[in-house]
Amino acid sequence: MTKNIMQYDTVALDDKNSALVIIDQTQLPNNVEMLHLTEIKDIWEAIYLLKVRGAPAIGVAAAIGVYLSAKKIDINDYDEFYKQFKEAKDYLASSRPTAVNLFWALNRMEKVVLDNADKPVSEIKELLHKEAVLIRDEDVEVCKAIGEYGLTLIKDGYGILTHCNAGQLATVKYGTALAPLHLGAERGMKFKVFTDETRPLLQGIRLSAFELFSNGIDTTVICDNMASQVMKNGWVDAIFVGCDRVAANGDAANKIGTSGVAILAKHYGIPFYVCGPTSTIDMDILSGDDIPIEERKPEEVTEMWYKKRMAPEGVNVYNPAFDVTDHSLITAIITEYGIARAPYDKSLKEIFEKKAAQGKK
Ligand code: MRU
Repeated sequence: MTKNIMQYDTVALDDKNSALVIIDQTQLPNNVEMLHLTEIKDIWEAIYLLKVRGAPAIGVAAAIGVYLSAKKIDINDYDEFYKQFKEAKDYLASSRPTAVNLFWALNRMEKVVLDNADKPVSEIKELLHKEAVLIRDEDVEVCKAIGEYGLTLIKDGYGILTHCNAGQLATVKYGTALAPLHLGAERGMKFKVFTDETRPLLQGIRLSAFELFSNGIDTTVICDNMASQVMKNGWVDAIFVGCDRVAANGDAANKIGTSGVAILAKHYGIPFYVCGPTSTIDMDILSGDDIPIEERKPEEVTEMWYKKRMAPEGVNVYNPAFDVTDHSLITAIITEYGIARAPYDKSLKEIFEKKAAQGKK
């Protein structure tokens, strides 16, 4: 019997074979192909090419990637080990700039090396293994908690619109924005979900629609420019999106097109929820103006998915992968420690105080 996509691990460690195991998301929904990556350059490329993507999944992949690199360093001298570890860390950190989970996970791994400088390298490698597995396992609990909080904001029968993929395929399990829907479905709730296609890389139509539909959730795909019509029809009770980096004031970077959806939501009076773990909240960045926005190759807009190039040769192309939704357009930010509402500079601080009180990293 063929497995439902929800039964696959989006990102995992095969320690015996020293491999990062991912679903190649560039092949979805047509082929479910698992990749076993053992070389750091292949892990870098998998992140850059979005074979593994979504802020939490990128963080987990990088943590496993840097552990696998450290495992290969055949040196007992701490300083030389740290030098090579740092090179691997910096290299993986250069794969994508916006999702802060990448840096958060790599910094957590580096802290293990720095805090244990007095220990033999073999022991540090073991601790790095433990940390990578912990980062992965925590993601499941974190997403479940986001799902539970999200569920308190919706009712059976709701129409929900989502943009990009902030589902299980973007995390280890459940997802962030799609977690309330997957959890609700487990409990017999019914939703009517509209997934924006999400140009140019089609995370909505290829990934969100695929995972929701595979999980038996009523799903309708729309092109990005149809969202206003769907809202005007009165079919959307709430909008749930993920995020790649949230600034301390609540401004939230997410997949390009998200801010337009938020502006429409305000016009139609629909609540607009941003779901994200605290690992996606960057309290060092005061506002969205300081969030680095990735720009990608023009061919993603002009050629990808088409049989023939669809733009005149030589025409200018602008291809930002993310945009920033102003905090004033966000009804609430749903984290694993609760639901933050405006003023976000205060409520997000309280979320982190709650996290610290529980001794979490
Ligand atoms: O370029 P991508 O596919 O990595 O962008 C992903 C998104 O924008 C997601 O909405 C975000 O990472 C949240 S994932 C839970």
